[in-house]
Amino acid sequence: MISVLRCPVCSHPLQPASADNTPIRVVSCINGHSFDRARQGYWNLLLPQRKRSKAPGDNEAMVQARKGFLDRHRFHPIASAINAQILQLSQRTDHPVILDLGCGEGYYTDQLCKAFTEAERLSSIVGLDISKAAIRQACKRNKSITWLVATAADIPLQAQSVDIATLIFARLLPEPTAQVLRKDGLFLVVWPGPDHLRELRELIYTDVRDSDLNPDIQLQELFEPMGEEALRFRFHISDTAELSDLLMMTPHGQRLSLERRNALLQTEHLEIQADIRLSLYKKR
Ligand SMILES: C[S@@+](CC[C@H](N)C(=O)[O-])C[C@H]1O[C@@H](n2cnc3c(N)ncnc32)[C@H](O)[C@@H]1O
Ligand SMILES: [Zn+2]
Repeated sequence: MISVLRCPVCSHPLQPASADNTPIRVVSCINGHSFDRARQGYWNLLLPQRKRSKAPGDNEAMVQARKGFLDRHRFHPIASAINAQILQLSQRTDHPVILDLGCGEGYYTDQLCKAFTEAERLSSIVGLDISKAAIRQACKRNKSITWLVATAADIPLQAQSVDIATLIFARLLPEPTAQVLRKDGLFLVVWPGPDHLRELRELIYTDVRDSDLNPDIQLQELFEPMGEEALRFRFHISDTAELSDLLMMTPHGQRLSLERRNALLQTEHLEIQADIRLSLYKKR
């Protein structure tokens, strides 16, 4: 989906540097800013001055923990709910452009791409994350997705080029998201409800607080709410490696001391509830 990329330096469209290089290895803008495709297949459009640290976003350990957990497909019901909504919402668009913001190691992005293929429908899917470690891993999942190392705070896609954006357990950045969505474009935000991973949080915290992440308020100026779906299911963990991955992929686990984490990993069986909200918005 090279045709929707824009130069992160000057905002002009990025195009293949020469007409006959397939697969495309270099893209550049009319001002001569050029970007190479990484060996793994992604495009790095994150400018050094946009980085707040040397390696922003999730680090390698978090990426591996998330991949380890998601590859067991306990959260497959979340992917199925996302895929069902997107397939239905894009029914009238022949070849929708879909952008997954903060896509991480690409589990949900890949599942979505596969759902389009299975439904024998065309799509152009872009997965964007600020973490190079995450995008490197994502490249291994699916070669037909355009993977970008970039910031969602300054999305290197042309204005009004995206039909549907998704944001799954990642930080809301309403303005840049609205900018890349076409008129009437849709934005699906997947976020944890108050009971999400409650049993896990009870093990970690003495005082478990309900999360108050409802995106409505942050989005109200630029997006119109179109409906919310609640998805609840329970899953069982009796494997130490799986519990460790789940701990390490959540902020809760990240906050634990090594000693406390090792103590928690002694837990033999844990039944955990997932409580997910899928909120749909339309660009105003
Ligand atoms: C909790 S993870 C969710 C990953 C994926 N959506 C999933 O559910 O498996 C949040 C992701 O947001 C990324 N992230 C953080 N700040 C970002 C930014 N400014 N732009 C793009 N991605 C960002 C992190 O690197 C991380 O991969
Ligand atoms: Zn440029």
